[in-house]
Amino acid sequence: MKIFLIGMMGSGKSTIGMLLAKKLYVRFYDLDSMIETKVKKTIAEIFAQFGETHFRDLESAILQETVKFKGVIACGGGVILKKENRSFMNQTGKTVFLQATIPTLSERLSGGKTRPLLSGKNTDAKLNEIWKKRKMHYLNSADIIVHTDGKIPQTIINEIIAFI
Ligand code: S3P
Repeated sequence: MKIFLIGMMGSGKSTIGMLLAKKLYVRFYDLDSMIETKVKKTIAEIFAQFGETHFRDLESAILQETVKFKGVIACGGGVILKKENRSFMNQTGKTVFLQATIPTLSERLSGGKTRPLLSGKNTDAKLNEIWKKRKMHYLNSADIIVHTDGKIPQTIINEIIAFI
């Protein structure tokens, strides 16, 4: 069994993923952490030194490495941008989209320094712009959509488990 968690930055993929894996007694993987370990640089450093296109290539390569994995995999928010990634997730596991509203994401993310795509002043405006471009991909890639606003992790996890 393999579950991919997708969603915008700040939607709780890593937190929910870890708790879900624990509850299901399976392993948890975080694609961003796997990239950082492999390249020995932080995501911010990769963006700054090599640019987003290179990061996306690394992201796809790491995703492919999960082909034989079993467990819960938290993906970076932009994993759905590439068709090859969407097909891979669709063919090799179940995909859960954690959907949160922009104000919720913005509240969680403002002031953070680890996400290069949000560096700058207006987090709300940037999130809106990103959401507009990605919305259809998130919705079309999802086997299940879980609305997370106002829910405690346990509720979200139960909703996912009820589906799988
Ligand atoms: C990104 C999301 C980040 C990380 C990178 C790009 C995106 O992961 O992969 O900064 O394009 O949405 P999280 O969704 O875990 O923050």
